[in-house]
Amino acid sequence: MFFSLFTALALITSVNAHFRLLYPEPRGPFVADNEPNFCGGYNNAVNNRSTFPLSGGFFTIKSGHPGWTAGVIISTVQNPNSFDNFSVNGEQQIVGAYAKSDDAGTFCMPLDISAAKIDGVKDGANVTIQIVFAGGDGNLYQCADLTLSSNFTVPSNVVCANETAAPHGSETSGGASPSQTAGALGAAHVFAGYVALLLGFIGAATLLA
Ligand SMILES: *[C@@H]1O[C@H](CO)[C@@H](O)[C@H](O)[C@H]1NC(C)=O
Ligand SMILES: *[C@@H]1O[C@H](CO)[C@@H](O)[C@H](O)[C@H]1NC(C)=O
Ligand SMILES: *[C@@H]1O[C@H](CO)[C@@H](O)[C@H](O)[C@H]1NC(C)=O
Ligand SMILES: *[C@@H]1O[C@H](CO)[C@@H](O)[C@H](O)[C@H]1NC(C)=O
Ligand SMILES: *[C@@H]1O[C@H](CO)[C@@H](O)[C@H](O)[C@H]1NC(C)=O
Repeated sequence: MFFSLFTALALITSVNAHFRLLYPEPRGPFVADNEPNFCGGYNNAVNNRSTFPLSGGFFTIKSGHPGWTAGVIISTVQNPNSFDNFSVNGEQQIVGAYAKSDDAGTFCMPLDISAAKIDGVKDGANVTIQIVFAGGDGNLYQCADLTLSSNFTVPSNVVCANETAAPHGSETSGGASPSQTAGALGAAHVFAGYVALLLGFIGAATLLA
């Protein structure tokens, strides 16, 4: 009986920890149960890639779970189908600063792909980004297949703003209204060394998982 209660709680927790990649468009429709797998369960790149800015882009996620950390790794392989394809010489190709928040909600993070100075990242290149999301019960993944463009700007109907929300499944009535924080994009919030350390930790957790 103890065991089944624990199992039930664990299931609730894992449901709460899911996240969605809202922009750019992920490889395929969201399947919650597959999110702990490589690219959220989609092993192959799509043919209709999204055009994405070579520099000055952003990505947006929705987390129903408070207390999360997210980072982005990139592959320049045409059809990356393994975590190995996101590393070169055993080193994970990390792009951008990691992001974290104590809140649940919708979050938009700067994603300046060219700033990471990764080999093969240039105008016209096909790349895949993989969002690595750590919400407390193992890593979750979503991928987007992109073609980079130096003259593309994100359409203005794609809004980049943060909005916190009550954690998914919480029953707090009359809760605080969502707070809106439209911050400046492109600002480096953290030291690069710290970023590498943290994503290194996420990477290690991947290997252990
Ligand atoms: C990028 O990928 C598309 C299919 O997704 C392909 O048609 C095109 O040739 C690729 N471009 C390069 C530069 O590899
Ligand atoms: C690619 O095609 C699929 C299937 O038609 C569609 O659902 C998806 O929105 C398309 N993706 C992009 C980035 O246009
Ligand atoms: C992608 O990863 C697979 C599996 O590890 C490997 O066999 C393949 O050579 C990699 N592709 C490239 C282009 O590095
Ligand atoms: C952007 O660049 C590509 C190739 O580099 C070109 O084909 C396209 O016309 C350009 N688009 C705009 C809006 O300038
Ligand atoms: C949204 O919140 C994340 C996480 O705290 C932060 O990294 C990002 O810069 C914020 N974005 C905006 C547009 O304020």
